Amino acid sequence: MGQTATVIIDFWEDSIDALHGIIHNELLNQKEKKIYILSTHFHPDHFNPDILTWKQTHPDLVYILSKDILRHKRATVKDGFFLKKGDTFDDGILTVKAYGSTDSGDSFHIQLEGMSFFHAGDLNNWHWIDESTPQEAKKAEGDYLAELGYIKNDITNVDVTMAVQEGARFLEKPQGGKGILMGGVPGVKPAKVLVLGAGHVGFASALIAAGMGADVTITDINLPLLRSIQNVLPQNVHTLYSTEHSIRKELPTTDMVVGSVLIPGDKAPHLITRDMLKLMQKGSVLVDVAIDQGGCFETSHPTTHSEPAYVIDGIVHYAVANIPGAVAYTSTLALTNATMPYAIALADKGWKEACKGDDALLKGLNVVEGKVTFKAVADLYKKSFVDPKTLL
Ligand SMILES: NC(=O)c1ccc[n+]([C@@H]2O[C@H](COP(=O)([O-])OP(=O)(O)OC[C@H]3O[C@@H](n4cnc5c(N)ncnc54)[C@H](O)[C@@H]3O)[C@@H](O)[C@H]2O)c1
Repeated sequence: MGQTATVIIDFWEDSIDALHGIIHNELLNQKEKKIYILSTHFHPDHFNPDILTWKQTHPDLVYILSKDILRHKRATVKDGFFLKKGDTFDDGILTVKAYGSTDSGDSFHIQLEGMSFFHAGDLNNWHWIDESTPQEAKKAEGDYLAELGYIKNDITNVDVTMAVQEGARFLEKPQGGKGILMGGVPGVKPAKVLVLGAGHVGFASALIAAGMGADVTITDINLPLLRSIQNVLPQNVHTLYSTEHSIRKELPTTDMVVGSVLIPGDKAPHLITRDMLKLMQKGSVLVDVAIDQGGCFETSHPTTHSEPAYVIDGIVHYAVANIPGAVAYTSTLALTNATMPYAIALADKGWKEACKGDDALLKGLNVVEGKVTFKAVADLYKKSFVDPKTLL
C-alpha cells in the first residue's frame, strides 16, 4: 500500500488458487519494496498457515502476528514479532499498534508513510438476531463500544471528537438549545442525531453520538460506503441514502444535525436550505463542520470560538471554521506529528525530489509553474489539467 512497503493483512486465500493470484504472482515479487505479513488472530479465515512457508522463497518477509497465534500453537516464536493488546511494532518504516478484539486476538492500527489504517480483525458488534438473547446482544454492544472508546481516546482526532461534543453542549437550555440530554434517561427518549456525510468526520461523529446514547441516522450518497459501515456501526445508528426528500422527512424529529459532507475540489452543497428550518423544532442544533468548504446549510456563516453559535428561525447554528482551535495545545501537537515528516522531506530534498518519493505529497500539488495539477481544481475553474508527474 505504500511507496516503500507492502502490507498483507489476514491472508486467507489467493485470487486464483492456493499458489497463484495477486499475492503470489504480484505482491510477493516486488523486489524493491519491503513486505510485511500481518495476522490479527488464529481463526483460519484470518490466518492461513501457508504464509509461514513464503519465507522459504522470500527470506526478507517480516511477520507481525497476534500473540494468540502463538498460544494456539499455529506458529513458533522464531516465526516473527508477536503482539498483544497495547504492544507496538515500529521499525522506522511501519508502525503497528495492537488493540483489543471482541473475539480472538487483536485489531491493528497501522501507520506507513503518513497514512493511517485501522484493521479491525474480528473486533465487531457480534450478535445474531435469531441466536442472541437481548442481554447477550446488549453485552456484545457494550464490549464493542468500550473497545471503540479506548481506541478513540488513543487515536486522537480532535475535529470529530469535538463536533458532537459541542453540538451536545448547545442542546442545553442555557445555551439556547431544547434542553435535551443526548442519552436520555430511563423513561425519556434519547436525542435524535442526523449526520450528513459518512466520511471521516461523519463516521466518527456517528460513533461518538451513538456512544453518548443518542439515536443516530447517518446519510451519504455513496451506497457501497453505507453498506460497509452498516456492519460495523452499533445498533443505535441507522443508515439512510441522502436525498432532499429523505433529509426533509428526518428534520421534524431531529434534535441535532452534523453537516460533514465534502465534494473534493468544490464548495459543499446546501443540504438544508432556509425554508427547511421551519420543519425543525425550535432549539434544535445544526453543527456545520463543512463550514471550511462554504458550509452545507444555507443559513451557515463561519463563527469563532469566542461566539461559536447564533440562532436563525429558532434553530441554533454552530459553525466554527477551526473547531480544533479550542484545544490548541493538543491540536498543534497532533498536527505537527502528522505534518513534520513532509516538512522535513521538503526541506531536505526540495519539492521535486520530495514529491518523486512520496505519493501523498504529489497528490498535494495544486499548481506548478502556472499549470493546474489537481484534477478537481482544474475542472472547477475550467482550466486544463496537467499530470504533476510530467513536471517532476
Ligand atoms: N470546521 C472544522 O474545524 C473542520 C474540521 C475537520 C473537517 N472539516 C470539514 O468537514 C468536511 C468533511 O470532511 P471528511 O474528512 O469527513 O470528508 P470525507 O471526504 O471523508 O467525507 C465526505 C462525505 O460526504 C459525502 N457526500 C457528498 N455529497 C453528499 C450529499 N449530498 N449527501 C450526503 N453525503 C454526501 C461523500 O460521499 C463522503 O462520504 C470537510 O468539508 C472538511 O473540510 C472541518
